Order: sequence, then C-alpha cells, then structure tokens
Amino acid sequence: MTRLAGKRALITGAARGIGRAIAEAYMAEGAEVAIADINLAAARDTAAALGAGCHAVEMNVTDQSSIDAGVAAAVSAMGGLDILVNNAALFTAAPITEITREDFDRLFAVNVSGTLFTMQAVARQMIAQGQGGKIINMASQAGRRGEALVAVYCATKAAVISLTQSAGLNLIAHGINVNAIAPGVVDGEHWDGVDAFFAKYENKPLGQKKAEVGAAVPFGRMGTAADLTGMAIFLATPEADYIVAQTYNVDGGNWMS
Ligand SMILES: NC(=O)c1ccc[n+]([C@@H]2O[C@H](COP(=O)([O-])OP(=O)(O)OC[C@H]3O[C@@H](n4cnc5c(N)ncnc54)[C@H](O)[C@@H]3O)[C@@H](O)[C@H]2O)c1
Repeated sequence: MTRLAGKRALITGAARGIGRAIAEAYMAEGAEVAIADINLAAARDTAAALGAGCHAVEMNVTDQSSIDAGVAAAVSAMGGLDILVNNAALFTAAPITEITREDFDRLFAVNVSGTLFTMQAVARQMIAQGQGGKIINMASQAGRRGEALVAVYCATKAAVISLTQSAGLNLIAHGINVNAIAPGVVDGEHWDGVDAFFAKYENKPLGQKKAEVGAAVPFGRMGTAADLTGMAIFLATPEADYIVAQTYNVDGGNWMS
C-alpha cells in the first residue's frame, strides 16, 4: 500500500523492537525512514535489513548536540522530515525504598527530556518546511496509573502523555499533529528485561511474569511489535488530521480511557 508515499520519517530507538516494526511498516506504505538510535551498529544492521530508502542515523536523545546532528543527518539523507516517532526509552523497576537518583535521572533523561527535545528539534524543521507534519510519541499503559515496583518508568510515561497534550495544543497551529500511542505488554527484548526485574523483586522464575501478564490481557496474549504498526501508520496519515493531543491505548484491552 502507499498511504505514506513520499513521506520522510525519523524514528528514534528503531534499531529493534517496536520502532523497527514501525519503520518496516512505514516503508511498506511507501515512506523513506531514518532509524535514529544510540546503538549505531544495530541501526545500520536494521537499515541494511530494511533495504533501500532506510537510513541509519546515530542519535543519543539525552544529548542536544546528538539530537541536532541526528536530525540534520536525516534531513540531509531524505531532503526533509514529515513524520517523527519518538520511540526511544529505557525501563527500570525497584521498590520505592530502593530507587536510586541515578536511575531516576537516567530514565527521565531518555524518556522525558529525550522525547521533548527531539520533538522540539523536529518541530522546528517541520515549521521551516511549512507543510505541517505528524509527531507520534510512544507512551505506555504504565503512564495511565502507577505500579508498585515501577514508579519511575510510570512517571516518565505519564509525563510523555502530558507533553503530548501540551505540544499537541501548541503545534497544531503549524499544522503539526502530536499524538501518542500507549502500548500494553509487548513481547521482545524490552520485556525480557522487565521479566528479569520481576523475577528479582517478586521471586519468580524467569518467564513467569511474562506468562502471567500475557494471560491477563483481555485479548488473550501479549502484544507483538507488529500489533502497534496499524495505529502508528494511521496517526501519520491525513486521515488523522483532525486528531490532536490524544493518547491511544493499543493494548489488547488492558486499559480503558
Ligand atoms: N515493549 C513493551 O512492552 C512496551 C510497552 C509499553 C510501551 N513501550 C514503549 O515502546 C517504545 C519501544 O519499546 P521497545 O519494547 O521496542 O524497546 P526496546 O528496548 O526493544 O528498544 C528501545 C530502543 O531505544 C534505543 N535507545 C535507548 N536509549 C537511547 C537513547 N538515549 N537515544 C536513542 N536511542 C536509544 C535502544 O538502543 C533500542 O534500540 C518505548 O518507548 C517503550 O517505553 C514498550
């Protein structure tokens, strides 16, 4: 299909997981894509696997000069930017009594500052182009409510939902739609890490937490990265022009809002 023909997308954290699946889906819809990741070697492997029209860009979203250089490299490779998917994020878990300032700062730097200042850099580019654009932030069901062992990650994702609302209201004046997706539990390397945290803090064998959360999803299983691509495509098309500052749950029925 060609719903994104001629569009140029930058996707952060797209070397693997959900970002990679969205990159692949965008390309299948005719878009050109820049895979922007802190792991340049993995970004290059992914770009090579996805083929012509996919570019690897080094970007550490916690570093302003790296954001600026990554955006400039993507613009230089593709001639401009029409879509941003702000997808890079880190996870951590700990009881309140064990949270470290280091972990708090690390997660807020990637998940919150990274989201805001990448959005800012790309919005400036889109405003200069004068054709509007689409920005899609990756939130989480974790941003909808707190969790006993996941205070810091949940707070970062609540902040992503709030930033999406403010930026959405501000940037629609330039024809830029800012919206977010809130995935539920999505199998992959990210959730392997989550499972390991729960194994430690809930004294479970590896894999048990995954099995439990998958069984608890009303749809009947954990999500896959491919389950997120339909909403990511839709929010990048003109069909979504009248949608502003919203966060959509794509979680098999876990959360209603
Ligand atoms: N997997 C899930 O269950 C789930 C659920 C809800 C929300 N999410 C969100 O979806 C998004 C993607 O999740 P995923 O499961 O694909 O994660 P993942 O851990 O598989 O991939 C994250 C990517 O981000 C990159 N990255 C990390 N730090 C970076 C930095 N400073 N600058 C640039 N890139 C950086 C990593 O190299 C990696 O390629 C994240 O925002 C995550 O919070 C995931």
